Amino acid sequence: MGDLSQSAFLKALRGEQVPHTPVWFMRQAGRSLPEYLKVREGVAMLDACATPELIVEITLQPVRRYGVDAAIFFSDIVLPLKAVGVDLDIVPGVGPVVASPVRTLADVEAIPDLTPEHVPYITEAVSTLTGELASVNGGTPLIGFAGAPFTVASYLVEGGPSKEHAKTKAMMFGAPDVWDALMQKIAGISAAFLEVEVAAGASAIQLFDSWAGALTPADYGRYVRPHSARVLERMGELGVPRIHFGVGTSNLLGLMGRAGADVVGVDWRTPLDQAIALVGDRGVQGNLDPTLVLAPTDVMTSRAAEIIEAGRAAKGHVFNLGHGVIPSTDPDQLARLTEFVQSYPLD
Ligand code: CP3
Repeated sequence: MGDLSQSAFLKALRGEQVPHTPVWFMRQAGRSLPEYLKVREGVAMLDACATPELIVEITLQPVRRYGVDAAIFFSDIVLPLKAVGVDLDIVPGVGPVVASPVRTLADVEAIPDLTPEHVPYITEAVSTLTGELASVNGGTPLIGFAGAPFTVASYLVEGGPSKEHAKTKAMMFGAPDVWDALMQKIAGISAAFLEVEVAAGASAIQLFDSWAGALTPADYGRYVRPHSARVLERMGELGVPRIHFGVGTSNLLGLMGRAGADVVGVDWRTPLDQAIALVGDRGVQGNLDPTLVLAPTDVMTSRAAEIIEAGRAAKGHVFNLGHGVIPSTDPDQLARLTEFVQSYPLD
């Protein structure tokens, strides 16, 4: 059993020297893995997320297959809402769908706060997982995660996935009191959910603000950042390293870092050297275009090498894709990418 704190992943999050660039993949568990499709047969996504044996098995699948430097807890950003009683489902090929979208202050106030009693299966799954992961590849850390207030609010207000986030932004601009109450509610739920994961043994957390890139820096700073900052601050008090990720956020990377992240996740649109300049004295995570994993191996690895080289200028660099693994990805190609990153010489 290894000393987790000395793992390459946690060292990189702390900005310390690493033996190799640590690597994991957003959405590393899921539809690109035949073993995932097999255990999910006939089981609805949110039922899988509430079944400890399945959470444990699915979280471990990509770790076994790829030997990645970190495991990401198998769950979803809308699971905590479901757990407190919001009527929602994850529809295959669509995403989260909310039965009664949130529009008024009364709608916000009707959402209960989250307590550990709402999610006993999370505590059980994280405890089992961290026990098992302690002896995998000399000790593999578990990343807990939650959705950031803006991204979760978008699903709650739109009622489902959205490109423009129009109703969400209409509330933000037109009903700031309702907006503030909603963001505070979700920040509390996300922080409480993360606390459950950390209390049960997660070594790091990632706060997903996937859709924050829809905002100008001024609006992000005014309407969103204070709420994300509250969640990240609470994690800082618990002493757990924090990754903060969004898509299309080249104009927000500095602000997202200053919201209280140790490492800022970068999508593939921003060259990593530019991202490093923007986040200043923080680490970066990313940022290979997920479609490059579908390209010939030599094309993929030469781009990966450029990213590893650029990452050397950062306070810490965790290799990842710029967003989630595309379902049609060949798992063998991700295995080759993992091997390439982990054996790339840094000295
Ligand atoms: O990264 C991982 O491997 C851990 C698991 C994970 C899932 N969702 C599992 C999942 C994580 C970290 C998430 C976070 C999540 N969920 C985000 C933020 C990350 C991002 O992608 O930007 C968002 C926006 C969601 C909401 C959501 N859930 C979407 C858009 C979808 C896809 C819907 C579809 O079918 O196209 C989901 C469903 C979902 N979450 C799946 C998985 C494995 C697929 C469902 C299935 O396999 O049946």
